[in-house]
Amino acid sequence: MKIFLDTANLDELRRAAEWGIVDGVTTNPSLIAKEGRPIEEQIAKICEIVDGDISAEVVATVAEEMIREGRLLAKIHRNVVVKVPLTRDGIRACSILSREAVRVNVTLCFQPAQALLAAKAGAYIISPFVGRLDDIGLEGMELVRQIVQIYRNYGFKTQVLAASLRMPNHVIASALAGADIGTMPFKVLDQLFNHPLTDRGLEQFLKDWGKVFQEAPAAR
Ligand code: G3P
Repeated sequence: MKIFLDTANLDELRRAAEWGIVDGVTTNPSLIAKEGRPIEEQIAKICEIVDGDISAEVVATVAEEMIREGRLLAKIHRNVVVKVPLTRDGIRACSILSREAVRVNVTLCFQPAQALLAAKAGAYIISPFVGRLDDIGLEGMELVRQIVQIYRNYGFKTQVLAASLRMPNHVIASALAGADIGTMPFKVLDQLFNHPLTDRGLEQFLKDWGKVFQEAPAAR
């Protein structure tokens, strides 16, 4: 499973990129607005940090404007994937942009039938939102499982990107479900490293080494 960061924050992206495990980035209007810079500038900066698919979302709601905005976003950098919401206009925009070879990520997917429409429209990526379904008392991960199954049944090439992942268990479940991509905030990616037995084991190794050879540096 590819790992994407769900942030537009450059410091977070730089820190994570250093680990060499970030395959791409997803942004949305809320995340871009948080950074306070025009989307074209912010996306261009992100493209300098991470060499992979970078999703940039349109804010228009009418298909023709979405298409116009999408074409402009796609010109920022060859890695830009244009993100559109799963509305009737969004699906129409996806069909047209996809035919022009612009790669489209269809976002705000909350049920499998919507994912079927996105695949039919030639979407490059579909983004089911796991955490937001959990928020309303549903089993968000079930949506990812169903989409993976439906796409497999018919050989759709659209990649399933599990979004709105809020905790490490969401990441593990996405991988088990066969999602192509999991996108997560920096905090969740950072949490994936953690296990108390890793810390305790390393501390013991260094202590044992130090007893025989030299004073070992303390484990961090
Ligand atoms: O980028 C879309 C998605 O990942 C948002 O997550 O936590 O705001 O539901 P969240």
